[in-house]
Amino acid sequence: MSSSPNSLSSSGLSPRDEKPGGPPAAAAPLISYRGVNKSFGDKEVLQGIDLDVYAGETLVILGRSGSGKTVMTSMLVGLTRPDRGSVKVAGKELTELESDKDWQELRLKTGYLFQGSALYDSMSVGENVAFPMVQHTRWSEEEIARRVHEKLAQVGLAETEGMEPAELSGGMQRRAALARSLALDPQIIIYDEPTAGLDPITGDEIGRLIRRLQETLKVTSIVVSHDLRLTEMVADRLTLMYKGQMVFLGTFEEFRKSSHPEVRRFLHEDQEENQNDPAKI
Ligand SMILES: Nc1ncnc2c1ncn2[C@@H]1O[C@H](COP(=O)(O)OP(=O)(O)OP(=O)(O)O)[C@@H](O)[C@H]1O
Ligand SMILES: [Mg+2]
Repeated sequence: MSSSPNSLSSSGLSPRDEKPGGPPAAAAPLISYRGVNKSFGDKEVLQGIDLDVYAGETLVILGRSGSGKTVMTSMLVGLTRPDRGSVKVAGKELTELESDKDWQELRLKTGYLFQGSALYDSMSVGENVAFPMVQHTRWSEEEIARRVHEKLAQVGLAETEGMEPAELSGGMQRRAALARSLALDPQIIIYDEPTAGLDPITGDEIGRLIRRLQETLKVTSIVVSHDLRLTEMVADRLTLMYKGQMVFLGTFEEFRKSSHPEVRRFLHEDQEENQNDPAKI
C-alpha cells in the first residue's frame, strides 16, 4: 500500500477546502501564532508573537543568535510549549494537545530539518532516509526502497544511498538530512539554519533546493536563518526577531528599504561581514 499517512485533506484539515457560503478557506493561514509568550527563568524569550503563515508560502525568520527563532519554530512540533497564547496549525490548537498520540498526526505532516541536521552515523544514507518510514508507517520494504530513492533523487543525491554519512560533504549531509525530513511527504517543512557552516556556493544550492521543493511539492515552509543571501533567494516574506518581538514583517524588498533601526543594523552588519570575508565575495 502506498497511501500517505499524512494527508491534511484526508483528515479534514485541508486549508484548501472551501466552506459553502463562507470565504475560501485558502485565505485562512495554515499556521497562526497569537499572543505567544515564552520565558525561561526570568528571560522573556518570546513576548507576544502574532504571525500568520499561508499555505504554499516560504517565510523566513531572521534574527541574531538567541533571539528565539528555534524556540518559536519548535512549538510547531511540540518540542516547546508557549506559556501564554495560541498556536494553530490547519485550525488545530496546539496548546491543547497533550499526549504523543495527540501530536502524532501533526508531526507526520511536518518535516523538521533540525539545526545542525545530524544524520545517524551508524546507518547508511539510505537507511537514514528510510528511518521515519520504518518508524511511522507500515509500508512494505519495496515501497520504502522506492521512496528512499525518490527522496534522495529530489535532493540531488540519488547516487549516495549506500554511502556512510561521513563520506558526504557538509552540503551533501545537509541535503541528505533534508531527504529524511521529506520521508513522509510533509506538507510543512521547517528548516532551522539550513546553510549554517556552508560556503556560499553550497548555500546557494540549498536555497535553490528549498525553492524547488516549494514549487514541486507545494509545501509551506518556515526557514530559520541569519543568512541574508539565502533569505533573498527563498523568502516570499520574512520577519526579523529582536528582543522577543517581531520588529519587521514583509517582503525582502521592503526589508531592504525599512528604516527600522534593528533592520538597518542587521543589513549593515551583514554587509560588513561580507566585506571582511573573502569566501563571501
Ligand atoms: N530549554 C531551554 N532552557 C532554557 N533556556 C532556553 C531553552 N531553549 C532556549 N533557551 C533560551 O532561549 C533563548 C532563545 O533560544 P533559541 O534557541 O530560540 O535562539 P535562536 O534564535 O534559535 O538562536 P541561534 O541562532 O543561536 O540558533 C536563548 O537565550 C536560549 O538560551
Ligand atoms: Mg536556533
